[in-house]
Amino acid sequence: MTNEFPADFLWGTATAAHQVEGNNTNSDFWVAEHVPDTVFAEPSGDAIDHYHRYPQDIALLADLGFNSYRFSVEWARVEPEDGRFSTATLDHYRRMCETCRENGLKPIVTYHHFTSPRWLISQGGWENMATAQKFARYAGKVTQHLGDLIETVCTINEVNIPRMAALLWMAGGPAETFIENAAQALHTTPQQFAPFMFAGTAQGRDVILAAHHQARAAIKAERPSLPVGLTIAMSDMQAMPGGEAVRDQMRHELQDVFLEAARQDDFVGVQTYTRERYGPDGALEPEEGVELTQMQYEFWPQAIGATLRRAHEVASVPLMVTENGIGTADDGRRLAYYQGALQSVVECLKDGLDVRGYFAWSAFDNFEWMLGYEPTFGIIAVDRATQQRSVKPSARWLSQVAQANRLV
Ligand code: BGC
Repeated sequence: MTNEFPADFLWGTATAAHQVEGNNTNSDFWVAEHVPDTVFAEPSGDAIDHYHRYPQDIALLADLGFNSYRFSVEWARVEPEDGRFSTATLDHYRRMCETCRENGLKPIVTYHHFTSPRWLISQGGWENMATAQKFARYAGKVTQHLGDLIETVCTINEVNIPRMAALLWMAGGPAETFIENAAQALHTTPQQFAPFMFAGTAQGRDVILAAHHQARAAIKAERPSLPVGLTIAMSDMQAMPGGEAVRDQMRHELQDVFLEAARQDDFVGVQTYTRERYGPDGALEPEEGVELTQMQYEFWPQAIGATLRRAHEVASVPLMVTENGIGTADDGRRLAYYQGALQSVVECLKDGLDVRGYFAWSAFDNFEWMLGYEPTFGIIAVDRATQQRSVKPSARWLSQVAQANRLV
């Protein structure tokens, strides 16, 4: 068997509006970045000014031989006040889609990637069931305005990440004064503080899944043929001896319920960075001797094969790798990571899995949320003082694979 990918395989990179555009001032994250005692290492600021530099950025991605680009539309810009839509902003995203098409890149557009408008949070955010309908209204509007140019929609990025944050990472809770200050600045109370990332309760999960389902209906009402799906953050969750029951339970809560909710969708987006090991008492520390990335994740490129297989087993819909990558200052390790990851995608294809595309996270070094600009996930470096872009060797390598449409 050769290492060929299917003829119409999508090859691309991914970004998210808040991480690259700059000055997303009407979003909840912008507010949270600037309150006293913020948990953010630094504010997003100008980011990499993708909002203005997208024509050159998209041309660069096309020069590298990709045939697709996954980016997100920013709700906080499109609907700056509840029910008030900005045609100028919708036109901006329409021009982005047009630029993609002119450059031969199919636009894969995410409608929500972590950030939300300030006004939504003051109304109870992602713990308030009314948000589902508001999100669907916004999704319908975006589709009406640019749906004819979009190839595929990802409604919500990583629907399960609030649940992961609550059950795995925020055990002690983030600094209390931060929550108090951010809640006040967003005109809500600490008890009702529910930006997307903080909607980790069962109610938050239900709101997010309802938002996805209602948005899917709104999108299909505008354009029935437009493929729609959600994306899921999936680690390869491995059970160590005695850890099987805990792993199974966690995997059910953190992945399977969301995969089950995607069964009526056109595809599911799988986003994988590493593996997680579980013992009888829960998640374990990284294994001794295994290389760690800037995120303190185990260097585990083959995780993507395992998560694709799991997604296939549970959701039984076509698959897309909507994010895969590594935060590292050593681009040689990034290249090795992509080699290992793509080898495991090839194995999945050989086994008959319907994998439709692969998007590297990320196109550019960008704003890594609370960690600021320190972690570097890009295959293209950005000097933020000059906004100069420089293509890394890993980008050249991925470009060769994409153009050959086979792993060499
Ligand atoms: C998110 C990205 C993030 C990446 C690397 C994913 O969870 O979708 O926004 O930058 O992981 O941490």
